[in-house]
Formats: sequence, C-alpha cells, structure tokens
Amino acid sequence: MAISSSQPSRFLSLFTILVLCFSLCVAEIRFSEIRSDDRSIIPFDEFGFTHTGRLELNVSHISLSNPNPELDLSQVGFFLSTRDSWIHVLQQIQDLDITCALQSDLVKVVYTFDRLKGAKSFDSMFPENEANQFTLVFANCLQQLQISMDVRSAMYNLDGKSGRRDYLSAGVTILPRVYFLFFLVYFCLAGLWIYVLYKKRLTVFRIHFFMLAVVILKALNLLCEAEDKSYIKRTGSAHGWDVLFYIFSFLKGITLFTLIVLIGTGWSFLKPYLQDKEKKVLMIVIPLQVVANIAQVVIDETGPYAQDWITWKQVFLLVDVVCCCAVLFPIVWSIKNLREAARTDGKAAVNLMKLTLFRQYYIVVICYIYFTRVVVYALVTITSYRYLWTSVVAGELATLAFYVFTGYKFRPEAHNPYFVIDDEEEEAAAEALKLEDEFEL
Ligand SMILES: *[C@@H]1O[C@H](CO)[C@@H](O)[C@H](O)[C@H]1NC(C)=O
Repeated sequence: MAISSSQPSRFLSLFTILVLCFSLCVAEIRFSEIRSDDRSIIPFDEFGFTHTGRLELNVSHISLSNPNPELDLSQVGFFLSTRDSWIHVLQQIQDLDITCALQSDLVKVVYTFDRLKGAKSFDSMFPENEANQFTLVFANCLQQLQISMDVRSAMYNLDGKSGRRDYLSAGVTILPRVYFLFFLVYFCLAGLWIYVLYKKRLTVFRIHFFMLAVVILKALNLLCEAEDKSYIKRTGSAHGWDVLFYIFSFLKGITLFTLIVLIGTGWSFLKPYLQDKEKKVLMIVIPLQVVANIAQVVIDETGPYAQDWITWKQVFLLVDVVCCCAVLFPIVWSIKNLREAARTDGKAAVNLMKLTLFRQYYIVVICYIYFTRVVVYALVTITSYRYLWTSVVAGELATLAFYVFTGYKFRPEAHNPYFVIDDEEEEAAAEALKLEDEFEL
C-alpha cells in the first residue's frame, strides 16, 4: 500500500538530502502545475518562518486517475516538515511504525484530500507560529494513483510592527539591503577605475576597458538582484526585475570568465594576439556559460517540485566545474611560456616579475573558485536558516576581494614592458630563476 520497502525510502532520503543541500530558500508566491504525477513525495518550496508565519495554499483543478470513492484519501495531502523531523519520519517509515509521512506526529499536516469530499479545489490558510525552517511537501501514499492539480502557494511572515507581509524567508530578509550595499561598493570601484584609466591613459591597454565593463556589469547585476529581492519581499513576485537580473547575470558570467581567460593568456599585457588553443578555451567557456545560465533560470523559476529540477541542478554544477577548470589552463600555459622566455631571451628580471605575478594570479583564481563554489555551499548547509544571508555575504566578499586583487595587480602602469632595470637586479633575477628551475617541476 505505501512506501515500506527500503528501496524507495533510500531513494527518498537521497532525494531530499539533495534537495535540502541545494535549495537556498527564497519562497515567493509560486504557481506549480502537477500533471498525472504518481511520485509519492513532491517537495515544494522551503521557507524560514518567524513566530508570525502564514502559509496560503490554494489548489484547483484536482483530478485523480482513479476516482473510486473507496480510496483512503487521508493518505494524500500536504504537510510542512523541518529538515530534522524529515529524517526521523523516514526512519519511522523504514521501521514500519507508520506507512505514510502524513501519519507521523512529527509533521504538520496542512490538508488531506479526504476533506475535499468530491470538490475539485480548496483554499487553505495555515498559521505557522513555530519559528523554524519548513518545507512544504505533498505526499501521495496511494500506489498507482496519479494526481493532477494546480497549486498556488505563498509563504510569508507578518512584520512585527506594521503587520505587513514579508515574502522573504527569515534568514534572507535583509538580502535586498546587502545587495544594494555591494552595488554601491562596485559603483565606487567603477568610478575609481575610470579615474585610474584617465590618469594613466598613456599606459592603458584594451583589457583595462574590458575590466571596466566587467565591474559595471557586476554592479548592475547586484542592483537588479537588490530590486528583484525587494519586490519579492514586498509583493511575493519579482515584477520583471528577475528578467533583467538574469540578463545581467548572463553578461556578467560571460565577461568575467572571458576576462579571467584573457588575463591568464597575457593578452594585451604580454602579446596582442591569442593563440589557437587559447581561443579554443574561450570557445568552450562561453557556450558553457550560456548553458549554465539557462540551467540557473530553470532552477530558480521552477523550484524543487519540477520533475527534472535535480537534473538541471546537476547540469549547472557540472558546467560550472568544467568552466572553472578550463579557465586555469591559459594561466598555466602562460607560466610555462614565461619560464621558457626567461631562460632564452636574457631579460630575467622582467620575466621573473611577470612569472611571480601570473603565479599569484593562478593561486588567487583557484582560491576564488574554491571559496565561491565549495566554501559557500558548505556555509549554506551548516549555518542556521536564520543566518543564511551570511553565506551570501561571504561569497560576495570573496568576489569583491578577487575583483580588487585583479584590478590592483593588473592596473595600467605596473606592466609597462619598457621599464628600466639595472644590471645588478638582472643578475639577481637570473640567479633566482636558476634556483627555481632546480626546485620546481
Ligand atoms: C488564495 O485564495 C484566497 C481567497 O480565495 C485569496 O485571498 C488568496 O490571495 C489566494 N492565495 C494565493 C497564494 O493565491
């Protein structure tokens, strides 16, 4: 009758762990269409409630594949569950204490379909006064029963003083302000960079203008994200700001990865052209960024209820990892070339400086990638739902540090290839290079 064998429940635990790890809850008014679905568990949004939380659930066009009135429809319905209690519910099911998650006393049942009494829709309002992070889940414990329905759900907290609705989860409700603050920082950075470009206009390369474009796109992206989140916070939907946000994310993603590759190849610092293999890296990274951005849009807009949500998550992670690895190759090639050049062209000091710079850059790119991909994910999983914004701040700070480092190290003057070096320095550098050859590789 219900999920009792260990196979499906193992699948279930895996599934929910995946869902829980990857969802940064930003609930909003969400409309989901479920069509002839026989999954026993469908997770909807996750939301961090305060003591004045509410869940509005309006379900319409309900139709069951088997309209037999004998069916025990109390085995079908919606409930709210925290992550911790979900683990225990799975344990209860495995131990055969219960046969359906809806029977557990650890979950909060919102609505079971036996209350429908033949109706095709229901509206329900569920007050949630326990401050915690809950996931709205649909359970269908009847085997071979397919369900179609339109689900409109909204979760929000009422603001203490004004009583206004706040559609952002408890831990991320200050995000609009955080994003706006970072927007201001990047706005100032862009201004500063324009000033530097103007002051050093004689030693400016084309790549410096490209860097300016990257900073401006990053600033605009943050501004749209701030607007997007603040509209969601107030009204439960983004009012089109999400489209702008996706456009700028997309442009920012492409330009940032291109910039890392271009700097890595030494384009316009070391040489005015790109080699074939370097162009190939760009030709891999740019389309992959397109795919990554499409995946991101699908993930954000559908939510975990969609059947192939997990697939899109995996596509996104895979593509992201490939992009991150690909951008490292040009830097490694440059380091190798500089090392060889140092040995042959007799300008050891200049080459050693460049070599050190590119090595530092390599390490910083790795740290940046590691921090924003791994550490931030880890933070999301270990921090309490109330402090989820801290992982966003950590990620943004790391990104900011990366931008500042790149701008500072590759600023217009430092790479003037014609700077003068006296013989002593040259000899010392040649020595250093020789030493290095003995130790490395
Ligand atoms: C649900 O229905 C009620 C009354 O019909 C309405 O006031 C409310 O806005 C609806 N909620 C959602 C999330 O659609």
